[in-house]
Amino acid sequence: MKTLRFGIIGGGLMGKEFASAAARWAHLLDMPARPEIVALASGREATFGWFQKNFPAIKQYTTDYRELLKNDDVDAVYVAVPHHLHEEMYCAAIEAGKHLMAEKPFGIDLKANRAILDCMAKHPKVFVRCSSEFPFFPAVQRIGEMIERNAFGKIIEVTSGFLHSSDLDPNKPINWKRRVEFNGEYGVMGDLGMHVCHVPFRAGWKPRDVRAVLSNIVTERPDGRGGRAPCTTWDNATLLCTASRAGEGEAPAEPSARDLKSGSAGASPSQSEQAFPITFKTQRIAPGQKNTWFIEILGTQTSARWSTANPKLLEVLHYTGGEQIWQHVQTGYDPAFKTITGPIFEFGFTDAMLQMWAGFLYELAQGKPLKKFAQCVTPEETALSHQLFTAALESQKDASTVRVG
Ligand SMILES: NC(=O)c1ccc[n+]([C@@H]2O[C@H](COP(=O)([O-])OP(=O)(O)OC[C@H]3O[C@@H](n4cnc5c(N)ncnc54)[C@H](O)[C@@H]3O)[C@@H](O)[C@H]2O)c1
Repeated sequence: MKTLRFGIIGGGLMGKEFASAAARWAHLLDMPARPEIVALASGREATFGWFQKNFPAIKQYTTDYRELLKNDDVDAVYVAVPHHLHEEMYCAAIEAGKHLMAEKPFGIDLKANRAILDCMAKHPKVFVRCSSEFPFFPAVQRIGEMIERNAFGKIIEVTSGFLHSSDLDPNKPINWKRRVEFNGEYGVMGDLGMHVCHVPFRAGWKPRDVRAVLSNIVTERPDGRGGRAPCTTWDNATLLCTASRAGEGEAPAEPSARDLKSGSAGASPSQSEQAFPITFKTQRIAPGQKNTWFIEILGTQTSARWSTANPKLLEVLHYTGGEQIWQHVQTGYDPAFKTITGPIFEFGFTDAMLQMWAGFLYELAQGKPLKKFAQCVTPEETALSHQLFTAALESQKDASTVRVG
């Protein structure tokens, strides 16, 4: 098995999740490669301690990420830092020839995203992917297989969402995710949006236009120093889109952005045969929801729904003309990448992280993904998400429907 030597840039929540996944790589069977973490760059020295205690193979600790990128012992990097640093650090990593697992939203805004993709185009030998772990749950893998064999028939409607209640408490002190200068104008869409786009985009369901309703519910918070600070990001976002399968339902002449804004661009009958509504919901203030990623796909032949609120349960409805019966399928530990765990056991968040990392290393080592829905987010998919979120911001301004792209 090939060893890939990793540097982590950003020793916060996600940097630790990767280190933990790497530490239990033996859990996976038949992998062509394994990660070894050999370097850490983090903004504050205080974050070094946990890594020093648990990872003796880490030889380089630095607060200057550029020092890490100069390290010849580092083959690949995981960069998990606030969004305003994405463009600078991702481009620097790519220019240094380090393979890159990046974090969403892959650039603080559309301009930054384009700059990263331009940089990648100049360094085609560098392998780059973006993180999103929920599709690696076994139930979502099954939904992916259903999409691949067109089990749904004609798609009627899709809803993909990620609901948190992390910011329900108005007395929670402000952090970088509530500040536009660090998180970006997208607010919650930049924070949670890539997660809800991953499966629909991979399915080839492309949003053509969007009507967005964005809300800022808690407008100020304790600043952690005895005062109050304004919350400058959107807390919740609901995006209603017209979607079509890639290559299908394209109108002979696309309506102009102005037509869409003036509301005169209703789908023609031939388009509406192919088009269907997709709703992307991302909320940081969703009472009753802890960390609920969910997807619901309604089709003329089959429908399916799944949520992390009840992760073993996959609900499927096959319509054959008789009763409409939702079947309850108990999914076990049956992920894309085989492990030592028996199939009757439960699967959880840290397992999804391990599977996502298996997806990254497998594709890097083999030159192709294990399967369509066992691949991390591609840079092109992040570009589409940026087009969607940028259009959503425009839609919010004057309550109009805005073309995506
Ligand atoms: N895939 C997921 O499920 C998931 C979950 C949470 C966050 N994220 C993403 O991960 C990224 C990081 O989020 P987080 O929650 O880990 O944040 P965090 O605040 O926990 O950690 C960020 C880290 O970046 C470090 N940092 C800041 N400036 C730096 C610099 N100049 N050089 C080196 N390190 C620096 C900080 O010291 C901190 O350790 C974001 O892009 C976020 O959207 C992904």
